[in-house]
Amino acid sequence: MSRSKVEDIKEQSRQLRGTIAEALAGDATHFSEEELQLLKFHGSYQQDDRDLRAERKKLGQDKAWMMMVRCKAPGGDMSAEQWLLHDRIAEELGNGTLRLTSRQGVQFHGVLKGRLRDVIGRINRSGLTTWGACGDVVRNTMACATPLKTPAHQACHLMAREISREMLPKSTAYPEIWLDGERLPLDVGKEVEEPIYGKHYLPRKFKIGFAVPPRNDCDIYTQDLGFVCHAEGGPVEGFTVLVGGGFGMSHGVVQTYPVLAKPLFFVRPEHVMEAVKAIVLAQRDHGNREDRKQARLKYVIEKHGIDWFRSEVLARMKAPTEPPREVRFETVGDALGWHEQGDGKLFCGVHVEHGRVKDGDKAKYRTAFRSIARRIGCPLRVTPNSRILFYDIEPSRRAEFDAILEENGIRPADGLTEARKICHACVSLPTCGLGLAESERVFGGIMDKIDAVLRELKLEKEPILIRMTGCPNGCSRPYNADLSFVGRAPGKYAFYAGGSHRGDRLVGLEKKVVTEEEIPAIVRGCLEEFVKGRKAGESFSDFWGRTRASGAPPHPEQFHVEFAERAAKGPAKGGCGAEG
Ligand code: HEM
Ligand code: SF4
Repeated sequence: MSRSKVEDIKEQSRQLRGTIAEALAGDATHFSEEELQLLKFHGSYQQDDRDLRAERKKLGQDKAWMMMVRCKAPGGDMSAEQWLLHDRIAEELGNGTLRLTSRQGVQFHGVLKGRLRDVIGRINRSGLTTWGACGDVVRNTMACATPLKTPAHQACHLMAREISREMLPKSTAYPEIWLDGERLPLDVGKEVEEPIYGKHYLPRKFKIGFAVPPRNDCDIYTQDLGFVCHAEGGPVEGFTVLVGGGFGMSHGVVQTYPVLAKPLFFVRPEHVMEAVKAIVLAQRDHGNREDRKQARLKYVIEKHGIDWFRSEVLARMKAPTEPPREVRFETVGDALGWHEQGDGKLFCGVHVEHGRVKDGDKAKYRTAFRSIARRIGCPLRVTPNSRILFYDIEPSRRAEFDAILEENGIRPADGLTEARKICHACVSLPTCGLGLAESERVFGGIMDKIDAVLRELKLEKEPILIRMTGCPNGCSRPYNADLSFVGRAPGKYAFYAGGSHRGDRLVGLEKKVVTEEEIPAIVRGCLEEFVKGRKAGESFSDFWGRTRASGAPPHPEQFHVEFAERAAKGPAKGGCGAEG
């Protein structure tokens, strides 16, 4: 097989420049295929409003083209000023909403091509960037969002920032195109050395995260490279390094499947950066460059084995390593509500429905967060569950903070079910070009019905992890949830179960096709089983693991269902049925 087309595009791009600048200056309504591939490295995807497609086609009109812009915030950290600036971008240049991403960044949707430079320029002037937010490089580096002032939490955030800085492409394409060459040396337009990435950058995206047990909020087993902090409440001793996680699987491509990251070794804090570089280089050198669907680190490790991979990494680093240590997590959830952060100040975790910050009919998130930023002025962290933790709050400001939330219809987190606090849905329609079924737009209504069942069965306090996506790519990480629904066609989902609220177990297939309307009844069936069969104090994840044989692991073949087969069987039945 020959090198994939994207490898040629990268090679010929003059370090990711391509013809983006020319396209921006021209009056074409959208970018070419080659430009799109390069734009990803700059933090933007081209999309169109899928709600308008059919009507526009009927009228003989072009698609309603628009751009998604993704901003990186290492560890999810943003100041009040940065938040206000992002809020203004959404209002003036986007679709009036901000999407908190499940990698602790912020996305803007509905940005017109002519406004792209303005959006990216403003983000950079705020001190954040979109450079490397997408594309075949190290993406936004994640870190446990809880703003506790412990050495472990602080060290992880510091390292996330350092890694983000160090792993940015060195090419000056980005400031040249978007920032009018601000802060650039005189040799603008020249190619520079890319010591990590070389001419072809990485074979595929690369994701890094830091977790501080017992909280696994950044879903460490889904990262290409995960660092689990060992500190025992005192100074950081080091990190158990996990490698080769990744959840993407491509519709119809049977060789793609989700994998949980595996332990590689333990490193001391001063050797973290060296380990990052060695692991990234091993993937750069061995990742598949012929078939992008086989290019993630997980497939290198699946093919050659973890011992082979360890020796490749050790050949690229001098620092000493030790055997991995035992890792134990309790939850993937966030610390919502009010907490002390360890220095006399407080933090407050606010639930944001699906991470969509907008002024809706009931909850006015944008107005509330603007008021908090202006009046309280505290920094915030976007969590990997797409919620927000506001921190460094003086106890004397707590009442004022609560009043702002209440005035804007935002429910306090302690009134929510545990399942609601931790559930998640990907973006999907109308912006994501890959969505096969609705996700974000229907999930709230589905969770309202599930919440009613949870309350009826007195399971409000049970951390049951429910996730939904609009296609098998798995952006909201459905493949390690207790119960998950993966879109396959309008109104139809594959139903998986058997992951865990600690994020450390993969799901199995329960039913190939369920309809959107059936989901609450299916979840009820599972919850009733749990209520009947659980041992005292047992979580849903543990109950399921103890009592159920796991279904087939997630696999793209589960998405090949002929229409005839569906038609013959009629709509799938409710309940917690076995594979249909
Ligand atoms: C390899 C297959 C994948 C493809 C082709 C893909 C593609 C996309 C696209 C097109 C979007 C933009 C949607 C929009 O905002 O309209 C998106 C969003 C996103 N994806 Fe993926 N994705 C893949 C897998 C994953 C996986 C496995 C994860 C995480 C485990 C992930 C994390 C994200 C995040 C954080 C966002 C931002 C919005 C959000 O938080 O939902 N993606 N992805
Ligand atoms: S899971 Fe699929 S539908 Fe959802 S955002 Fe990712 S690519 Fe789009």
